[in-house]
Amino acid sequence: MVVKTLKIGKLKLKNSLVLAPMVDVTDLPFRLLCRRAGAALAFTEMIYVNAILHENEKTKQMMKTCKEDSPLGLQITGNDVKEFEEFVRRKKLWEKFDIIDLNCGCPSTRIVGTKAGCYLLRDTEKIAAIIKILKTTGKPITVKIRLGFLKNDVLEIARAIEKAGADAITVHARLSNDAYSKKADWSWLARVKKEVKIPVIGNGDVFTGEDASKVLEVCDGVMIARGAIGDPLVFTRVLDYLNGTKDNKLATPNRGAVGDFYNNLEQFEGYLKMEKKYFGTDADFGKIKYVGGKFLRGFAGASQKRDEFMKLKGWKEIEDFVLELGNGLV
Ligand SMILES: Cc1cc2nc3c(=O)[nH]c(=O)nc-3n(C[C@H](O)[C@H](O)[C@H](O)COP(=O)(O)O)c2cc1C
Repeated sequence: MVVKTLKIGKLKLKNSLVLAPMVDVTDLPFRLLCRRAGAALAFTEMIYVNAILHENEKTKQMMKTCKEDSPLGLQITGNDVKEFEEFVRRKKLWEKFDIIDLNCGCPSTRIVGTKAGCYLLRDTEKIAAIIKILKTTGKPITVKIRLGFLKNDVLEIARAIEKAGADAITVHARLSNDAYSKKADWSWLARVKKEVKIPVIGNGDVFTGEDASKVLEVCDGVMIARGAIGDPLVFTRVLDYLNGTKDNKLATPNRGAVGDFYNNLEQFEGYLKMEKKYFGTDADFGKIKYVGGKFLRGFAGASQKRDEFMKLKGWKEIEDFVLELGNGLV
């Protein structure tokens, strides 16, 4: 199987592999690593539309991008159509993004409590109204959904999203209340694909080339989230598998089965360097430790190194740690 390309509205992607939006993970440095590894499209983490309207520093950091970070989707959620109307009126808030994605999948109680995220799946009229407002930007509009809110209404939801004018739909093949322990049900991806004409991006439990190829048999694109945490090179391995250049049925280094630790160490260093370059003294060290720590696996003594990494303070200590880590493992 040679990897397919994907077209979303007027946007042509170089392949069909997409990095998922992930709160506290998919910031600019992380996205760049995944792009360099082969991801054709990436999204910001989910941002509440109201927070964007307030234009505070934290939100601006979440929306930070650069030339190489392209094409990029801005993922937003909310419930109040007036906020979306205000958002589209303020062009400077969205003009630098290539896609605007509406999150209808987040199950966190904080978001569902405001009737945003996956709560929107209960109200396809509201979703349609928001899509129509977002379409006035002229940008491709995508929607990320789950199979339904408590019950599976995905076909009806997908039809409503297409009818409202969305350019593509991403389906995370679980219900709003399904935990990750329940396997994503890819059979629904195929059913959604048959139901609508717009591109369908399949998501949920894709960790290997073989997983991706199964999803691509029934979808136009495939989105990877957890598989990329601590392991952006998952995109390279998936591409190699799809292009037939390498047989990769194995789990990722993330899962502890295989892995080239030195490549991963390079990714870890790259991540930290870019965090310093793009965020400097404003860097969110809590986030850096959470995301950075995920790279430290798959070698003897990894858990001790993770513990040490968690205790570091400031850039100097982090840089010394990386230097020592590299030397210690040569
Ligand atoms: C740490 C983390 C943060 C996430 N944040 C978001 C988010 O901001 N927006 C979103 O649509 N989904 C979010 N998700 C869900 C993922 O995008 C994806 O739909 C889900 O993890 C299933 O894909 P996977 O099996 O490849 O992990 C998040 C998932 C994780 C693990």
